Amino acid sequence: MDCYHIEGGIPLRGEYRVKGAKNSALPIMAATVCRAGVHELYDCPRIEDVFVMEKILQSLGAKTRWEDCCLVVDSRGVDECAVSRELMMGMRSSVFLLGSLLARCGEATIYRPGGCKIGERPIDMHISGLQQLGIEVEVSGERVTCRGHSVGGTVTLPYPSVGATENLIMAALSGDGDTIIENCAAEPEIADLQGFLRNCGFQVHGAGTDTIFIKGSSSMHCKLPPADTMYFILEDRVEAATYIMAVIGTGGRALFRNIRHELVREVLRPLEHMGAVIKRYDDMLEVVSPRNLKSPGIIITEPYPGFPTDCQPQMLTLCTVAKGLTTIREEIFESRFTHKKELVKMGANIETCGKNAIIKGVSSLSGKTVEALDLRGGAALVLAGLMAEGHTEVRNIGHIDRGYQDFDKGIRELGGLIERRTCD
Ligand code: EPZ
Repeated sequence: MDCYHIEGGIPLRGEYRVKGAKNSALPIMAATVCRAGVHELYDCPRIEDVFVMEKILQSLGAKTRWEDCCLVVDSRGVDECAVSRELMMGMRSSVFLLGSLLARCGEATIYRPGGCKIGERPIDMHISGLQQLGIEVEVSGERVTCRGHSVGGTVTLPYPSVGATENLIMAALSGDGDTIIENCAAEPEIADLQGFLRNCGFQVHGAGTDTIFIKGSSSMHCKLPPADTMYFILEDRVEAATYIMAVIGTGGRALFRNIRHELVREVLRPLEHMGAVIKRYDDMLEVVSPRNLKSPGIIITEPYPGFPTDCQPQMLTLCTVAKGLTTIREEIFESRFTHKKELVKMGANIETCGKNAIIKGVSSLSGKTVEALDLRGGAALVLAGLMAEGHTEVRNIGHIDRGYQDFDKGIRELGGLIERRTCD
């Protein structure tokens, strides 16, 4: 098991280029199965979840290789339509393969991805949406097998689920009928998936709104020759927000390249309320921290374009030293305050009750040995270590490796004192 050793209290300063988005790369990697071809995915982040998805694609018959700046997925050899149980357990997001395998071969078998620290993570909306498309779904224990081709029509999601929206877009490609999905998620990563699918020759419109139109394409499949595509993965708004909050939490200043401010609009708003000064350029942001942080008042996580749940743990950490009382309400996942106990060990004043966390700002945190329990909570503990006085050891950082490429290297580029070691 590896750990991060951090010396806190140093203002982060310098420049950082934001990498490609985990939550774009994963559905797009699954989507390479929809169309046989050699797909070059530029700016694909080198993170654990991507490496696991690579293994899954290889198990289905695809070939993958990394070149300098891209991941190449050759999906021409895909000849398998079942994802093994052990590979499924490696990464929840393989649920997207239901839709992409249906699109490619009219059949798909996966194993229900397990819950995780932040919540139960059911897939009932995926399953009911597929059934509304006329797909036969058989659930036996944890195994989910889908067969058939979409008949098209209108599917209305009960909740704008990101994964269900992405899965249904790809499943809708499996039939001839045209499909409308209503009450869709509008996250930017869905527009990125749409962009990739269009690159493959499919007709998908409306991503970024609550209604998406997909032209059925099964007849198209047989006739289409393999497609060779090149696609640039969207920048990672959650990675960007994490580093921005690290700079603000340590009283530093930095220039962030490769990030469009509209993607993080609802994160920047409370940060400016807290006192940060943020200059917006086309695809850059300049962030200057205040001497002292003020409470942002209340933060409620919502589907895009609201405050993103994936930035909530990091914001909670920032609020531990913001003057005044802050309320954070986590509306998306059932238990996303996993790092609260560890922050209290570091001197934070936090009370949680159900969806709400009440944080009373303290003058400073103290370095301690803490345990990462999930991806974003782990990243939030690294921020706490950078902000704290003294030495912090963050254990179990495999959780963080799932979604941040070279996190310690990025922080060192900004002058932070952090190094990765094997835990004793
Ligand atoms: C995606 O997860 C992201 N993951 C998550 O990022 C992100 O937090 C989430 O969207 C919300 O933005 C990827 O894109 C790989 P949902 P997903 O379906 O698709 C419930 C990170 O840290 N729900 O929008 O699983 C669900 O339990 C990760 O990068 C059902 O009840 O999110 C949750 O409470 C964490 N039934 C809520 O909806 C379903 O069938 C939102 O889930 C599906 C979802």
